[in-house]
Amino acid sequence: MTEPRLDAIPAGIATAADYEALAATRLDPTAWRYLQDGSGNNLTLAANRRAFEAQTLMPRPLADVRGGHTRLNLFGQALEHPILLAPIAYQRLFHPDGEFASAMAAAAQGGAMWVSSLASQSLESIAEASQQAGGGDQSAPWFQLYWQGDRERTLRLARRAEAADYPVHMLTVDAPVKLATLELPGEVQAVNLEHPLVAAPLRQGQSKVFDGWMAQAPTWDDLAWLRDQLRQPLILKGILHADDAEHAINLGCDGLVVSNHGGRVLDGAPASLNALPAILARVAGRVPVLFDSGIRDGRDVFKALSLGASAVLLGRPYIWGLASAGALGVAHTIRLVRDELELSMALSGCKTLAGLSTTGPQEG
Ligand code: FNR
Repeated sequence: MTEPRLDAIPAGIATAADYEALAATRLDPTAWRYLQDGSGNNLTLAANRRAFEAQTLMPRPLADVRGGHTRLNLFGQALEHPILLAPIAYQRLFHPDGEFASAMAAAAQGGAMWVSSLASQSLESIAEASQQAGGGDQSAPWFQLYWQGDRERTLRLARRAEAADYPVHMLTVDAPVKLATLELPGEVQAVNLEHPLVAAPLRQGQSKVFDGWMAQAPTWDDLAWLRDQLRQPLILKGILHADDAEHAINLGCDGLVVSNHGGRVLDGAPASLNALPAILARVAGRVPVLFDSGIRDGRDVFKALSLGASAVLLGRPYIWGLASAGALGVAHTIRLVRDELELSMALSGCKTLAGLSTTGPQEG
């Protein structure tokens, strides 16, 4: 942080993009680049935006949308709206209140946050802050698991989240290789991990990737094993190919997140929005399919939902709110995006998420 913290919603903020401009002035350049950058040449990062820009919305005036709402049930949880906070690592880089602030804001807004394995505050204390802010069990945050190099360590981390009453677990599978590591300031660490993963030692002639990092990456067999170990719904994040979606469902996964990790892993991966239709077609309603990567406002949420996603993950935009004004900034960002979603629904003639489509209200 380069600027003193704010304790009120800053004046003149009407969109998440306004928070982006403010956050740019408040974060130090290293944290800002870590947040904003994609990988490689940022091709996928740019493709995510282009895909949303190419998707149009069809106004459907005169529909009676009084009494409309955005409520839904997902993985056994009742939510006021479909805007979930994506797992984002090391949130104390962005604001001293870190994950507490985001989790409290999500709960206060009647939604949920996925807490990263790389959180900078303890899983137990984040869960407690969240439940206090939201007033009960339905406000527990959800857990995002990164594979911890082997089954035993991975399970110990998942069990810890389980013991802290995280009701939904999600395994992120698209980032198994740590190509770039951020130089963390001493006071910000992944406090829930036993110790940082290091690559296996290499013999001469071995590959840093195949024999080093990938020796510790999970496989489909590990996923099948993990599914058997956990009682909670298990969601898989980072799927872009319909065959992988099929495989995950056959192994018993309870949901999928179509995501390219915000363009931060395999540069050149397709826009997440463009990958969504083929996956939805293959899944054919067997499990909820969530959308992630590139959401910047409520119209984007509407577009992803109208293609058939059950909910979306909001990523960088809520961190702009966090960096600008802590929990208030996150709560305000969620509310702004939700207001835009509701307005898009109303102008498209959609009263509820069930009736949502880009061409207007569906029959029945
Ligand atoms: C991430 N993301 C991420 N995903 C995950 O599963 N675990 C994690 O710890 C992180 N950490 C993380 C840090 C930062 C700084 C960013 C920007 C992203 C990916 C995140 O959950 C989500 O997929 C992307 O943010 C979606 O892209 P947009 O919408 O933010 O562009």
